[in-house]
Amino acid sequence: RQADFIAPSILSADFARLGEEVVNVLTSGADIVHFDVMDNHYVPNLTIGPLVCEALRKHGVTAPIDVHLMVKPVDRIIPDFAAAGASYITFHPEASEHVDRTLQLIRSEGCKSGLVFNPATPLSVLEYVMDKVDMILLMSVNPGFGGQSFIPSALDKLRQARKMIDDSGLDIRLEIDGGVKASNIREIKEAGADTFVAGSAIFGAAKTSDPQHYNSILTDF
Ligand code: DX5
Ligand code: ZN
Repeated sequence: RQADFIAPSILSADFARLGEEVVNVLTSGADIVHFDVMDNHYVPNLTIGPLVCEALRKHGVTAPIDVHLMVKPVDRIIPDFAAAGASYITFHPEASEHVDRTLQLIRSEGCKSGLVFNPATPLSVLEYVMDKVDMILLMSVNPGFGGQSFIPSALDKLRQARKMIDDSGLDIRLEIDGGVKASNIREIKEAGADTFVAGSAIFGAAKTSDPQHYNSILTDF
């Protein structure tokens, strides 16, 4: 079982001050940066791409960047994200014609690979590619927006994924994304997650440039 990681989703950060927000949240104890890429095609929203990832690296961010691709197709953008400094690249199996090939592509670009499962997507896709993933990301909301409520059936799915990982003996992170808050993170951890994405619960509504602002928020996690 890997050490717990808190992964703030910068989707809810103040984009006009993104570098500062990311530095502040990392200084306050966050472990990795969750980077949501949406294309207004696979999901009905449009966010950020490789240029912004590269800008964070140039700003001095050295923590792992966890790129969650909600785009279709996926393959074309993977080398660009690798060159821009992505650490993990995860994608939705529905968005790739050839899941095995995409997983291999991510690793051949020097990144850690992962598959993302929507609330209604079964884990069966993993059966023949378990040795090609470094991370399994379970969505506890439907992808596209921050600030939605945690879908409770994700807890059973986490237990199922945890068992698959433990049975495999492989070194695979189990990440949960959507509706994670200080109030439900304990039961999510008990269900088997080790990597916790939180957007609105961390970045919230209060926009401030106080570098200490995220200390007390992250202490609750
Ligand atoms: C949703 C994104 C999430 C989102 C989570 O499609 O993948 O990472 O930012 O936001 P919260 O934590 O507010 O549910
Ligand atoms: Zn995400």
